[in-house]
Amino acid sequence: MSRAGSGQDGNWGMDVFDAIRKRRAVRLYRPDPVSREQVLAILDAGNRAPSGLNRQPWEFLIVTGNTVLEMGRSYRSTLDEYLSHWDKSPMRDFITREGFIRFAETYGGAPVVIVVLVPTDPLPNFKKADLESASAALENLMLAATALGLGTCWMTGPLRDEPALRRILAIPDDREIVAVTPLGYPATVPEAPPRLDPDLTKKVRWVE
Ligand SMILES: Cc1cc2nc3c(=O)[nH]c(=O)nc-3n(C[C@H](O)[C@H](O)[C@H](O)COP(=O)(O)O)c2cc1C
Repeated sequence: MSRAGSGQDGNWGMDVFDAIRKRRAVRLYRPDPVSREQVLAILDAGNRAPSGLNRQPWEFLIVTGNTVLEMGRSYRSTLDEYLSHWDKSPMRDFITREGFIRFAETYGGAPVVIVVLVPTDPLPNFKKADLESASAALENLMLAATALGLGTCWMTGPLRDEPALRRILAIPDDREIVAVTPLGYPATVPEAPPRLDPDLTKKVRWVE
């Protein structure tokens, strides 16, 4: 493996701007395994994210094998109501109904699913900061995955099935689930969705 996959400081093999441009929400994966070394390199990138009060609150569950399928079956079983309104779903813009069901049922066939957790904090300010910090960690690890030629898809949909996720993964009440991402080699990479404001004329106001 190239140094890019080593997880050590140094050349990650892809410019950060390239990784940002190349990262896509991948919903279909090849079954090829992802090595433990690669997973650790990706998590190391997550672990280097900034965090409010330097609390570094993120925790990662690395799910493989039959447990991924168990999660998928359970998530799928919650979707009948959602699917009955599919004609109104914004997901229709980027996936077919059948593709969405297959994605939910198997996490797109990804060999690994990463679940991001934070400790539950009763103080709203800490809760917000911890969620933001864990989100920074998740984006970091997704970009690192892209740099290694791997795909990811930030998912909060499976939180519809939160009680089952907690049971299947033995997540205690003092942990909050932030999001989930499959991890694997993409079978197909979607087109980049157009930016709402590509020239940043509406989203930016310069203040002197
Ligand atoms: C907070 C958040 C939640 C998301 N939840 C889901 C999800 O449950 N299922 C899914 O297929 N994609 C989900 N996505 C991925 C978005 O649909 C995707 O990022 C968006 O369509 C833009 O595509 P891109 O990531 O390829 O740029 C989520 C993304 C974010 C940031």
